[in-house]
Amino acid sequence: VATLTAFEEEHLAGVLVLFQAEGWPSYTADPKRTLQALSSAGSVTLVALENDAVVGVAQVQSDGEIQAHLSIIAVAREHRRRGLGRTLLREALRRSGGLRVDAISTDDDFYIGLGARRFSGFRLSREELGLPDPGRGAVTGL
Ligand SMILES: CC(C)(COP(=O)(O)OP(=O)(O)OC[C@H]1O[C@@H](n2cnc3c(N)ncnc32)[C@H](O)[C@@H]1OP(=O)(O)O)[C@@H](O)C(=O)NCCC(=O)NCCS
Repeated sequence: VATLTAFEEEHLAGVLVLFQAEGWPSYTADPKRTLQALSSAGSVTLVALENDAVVGVAQVQSDGEIQAHLSIIAVAREHRRRGLGRTLLREALRRSGGLRVDAISTDDDFYIGLGARRFSGFRLSREELGLPDPGRGAVTGL
């Protein structure tokens, strides 16, 4: 049975394995940046542990009262469809506050399975807004 706990630096290597498996370059290119991102103020990052191994991770950014945004959710392949994703998301929202959580989806089945309402969404890159590359191995993928 997995236990949920707040993300700490000691979980970074295990979390990076999950991101690597998903092929998310913006989260694997620079581990220091990933550590900063997952530890940022105003966000709640949880990991699911089984026998001390990281088998899931979720990060929710929230204003603490009304709106929250799901930044990351990933569950190790062999641990999927056991409710871990749902539990991570529910607990991250509970801890962060917020009445609702918005998510940009590359896996519609998960959100539809949870009963999510569908909205149209957009994502603008720094480049599209005329901002320079922030450096440190910036990657514009997921
Ligand atoms: C999305 C993800 C985190 C879901 O994790 P999970 O632990 O398997 O999710 P849960 O077991 O809590 O699933 C909750 C519900 O979502 C739906 N669901 C999840 N995966 C599904 C799938 N592959 N096909 C159909 N429905 C699915 C089901 O309704 C499920 O409930 P059920 O198992 O009782 O039918 C996991 O599949 C994952 O890590 N995917 C790769 C990373 C990713 O795509 N992240 C999201 C980016 S937007």
